[in-house]
Amino acid sequence: MPGTVPEQDAADERPLIELRQISKTFGAVKALQDLEVSIRPGELVTVVGPSGCGKSTLFNILAGLEEPDPGNILRLKGVSSTASDLLGKVSFMPQRDLLLPWRNVIDNAILALEVEGMPRAEARRLAMDMLPEFGLAGFEAQYPNQLSGGMRQRVALMRTFLFKRDLMLLDEPFGALDALTRTMMQRWLLDVWQKHKRTVLFITHDVDEAIFLGDRVLVMTARPGRIKLEQAVDLPRPRKADIVTSPEFIALKKTLLEAIEEESMKSFQVAGR
Ligand SMILES: Nc1ncnc2c1ncn2[C@@H]1O[C@H](COP(=O)(O)OP(=O)(O)OP(=O)(O)O)[C@@H](O)[C@H]1O
Ligand SMILES: [Mg+2]
Repeated sequence: MPGTVPEQDAADERPLIELRQISKTFGAVKALQDLEVSIRPGELVTVVGPSGCGKSTLFNILAGLEEPDPGNILRLKGVSSTASDLLGKVSFMPQRDLLLPWRNVIDNAILALEVEGMPRAEARRLAMDMLPEFGLAGFEAQYPNQLSGGMRQRVALMRTFLFKRDLMLLDEPFGALDALTRTMMQRWLLDVWQKHKRTVLFITHDVDEAIFLGDRVLVMTARPGRIKLEQAVDLPRPRKADIVTSPEFIALKKTLLEAIEEESMKSFQVAGR
């Protein structure tokens, strides 16, 4: 029916997820206050901000693990939701890689699928098909202690990709890696993201990483966290490694560093009081 087409177009323009007036209090600590953000389908949005400003708390809310304070508005594809409605609808890689030491690569990768009730044989088949793309072909029977840090992160990422949800949350996935491995993982992640067309929110402490990966960078304030700056990254894709030396990249970096430094100073002053 011709009449349905514009409606469909409007639906595609809708944010995938919208947060309004999100606050979160833990006892005497106000972790988030009136945070507002909306994410469009297919975007890769990076999040930076001082340590303790509430980034992981934001992700816990989006993953349905924490309920925000009353008065908040959360919408998934335009539908009002509570945080607990989001549980199981989002794929989440927490800040610490949670590989189980007694499970090999393949069985760690299928964990979320198994929890969801997929038969193990079927889940293993899906994961085996994905191994080469994640640089893990031939390592399916290895245990986490037999893998390098980069490989462990790729197993944890593979688990997150296998659990196919509209929104993917990655909390400092490369934080523990050396600079060279990290750069390689960033390029690899962009390739995988472009192929799988997923919507990603990515927390990092590394401004270069935030710009290199992101369509937008969100800078959070010192605690209580809210969005201080939303910076669009209009650098062409696919992005090559040497883009970090371009004048456009350096100008973005300057703007972002200034915003982050201002907030980091505030959190130090508060901590010193
Ligand atoms: N479950 C909890 N109970 C009590 N306080 C909490 C809880 N989770 C987080 N907090 C507090 O909320 C604040 C924000 O923590 P959060 O982990 O979200 O910060 P972050 O921005 O992710 O920091 P980092 O960059 O160091 O990972 C901190 O003061 C922390 O102590
Ligand atoms: Mg954190």
